[in-house]
Amino acid sequence: MSKVSVDIILCRAGSMNNYAYLLVDEKTGKSAIVDPSEVTPIVKVLEAKGIELDYILNTHHHYDHTDGNIELQKITGAKIVGNKKDAARIPGINIEVEDEFLLGESKAKIIEIEGHTKGHIAFYFEESKDIFTGDVLFSLGCGGMFEGTPEEMCESLEKLSQLPDSVRVYPGHEYTMHCASFALYVDRDNQNLVNYVMEAKEKQQKGLPTIPSTIGKEKKCNPYMRVFDKEFRNKIGVANATSVEAFIGLLNS
Ligand SMILES: [Fe+2]
Repeated sequence: MSKVSVDIILCRAGSMNNYAYLLVDEKTGKSAIVDPSEVTPIVKVLEAKGIELDYILNTHHHYDHTDGNIELQKITGAKIVGNKKDAARIPGINIEVEDEFLLGESKAKIIEIEGHTKGHIAFYFEESKDIFTGDVLFSLGCGGMFEGTPEEMCESLEKLSQLPDSVRVYPGHEYTMHCASFALYVDRDNQNLVNYVMEAKEKQQKGLPTIPSTIGKEKKCNPYMRVFDKEFRNKIGVANATSVEAFIGLLNS
């Protein structure tokens, strides 16, 4: 087995602030781009690093994650990879995945995380401890439920909360400071959260990404991941609620 290196590429800067990611398998040099929202910033990075792209990985079908698929494939010849269940909506898909995907010698587990869209997946590189969560888990927040129910979203977040705390989380957007307002509104005396927001603010002021986060940090700071903690449910006044009920309560507050 091998590990991947990760480069963060900001796309649609100043509007949707999507993140694409360049992954390179350390042993074989095989490379992939996760969620190419647009092509120009990605090609710039590929050229600067002299990388011939092998794959394009999509977490879900939304245009701000797949708009670069076809053009990037034309330029590089990369194969497009997406969830078999959502193949009809992934532009140009060549490889339909179900359980795992091999980038050279780095294995990504495919974790189904519905709630935002039907067929949304995360790519989890277990050896490297990196997960690409698309629009389901953001730092300090979660995605909108366009095609899913709160129950499905909560179930997906619970799946992610069971990964090791040290796993780095790479979401689909730079939304941390936006999500921070609500997190602080419901959980303002959480010192872990206060410290995390302060660090994120400093990074943003320097023009740096606030991510990656980690599963451990999200479990301590993200209210939508904190619902699995009985103490947190107690703190927000829903001691007798299930985690799903607490999650729905947060959505409605
Ligand atoms: Fe999306």
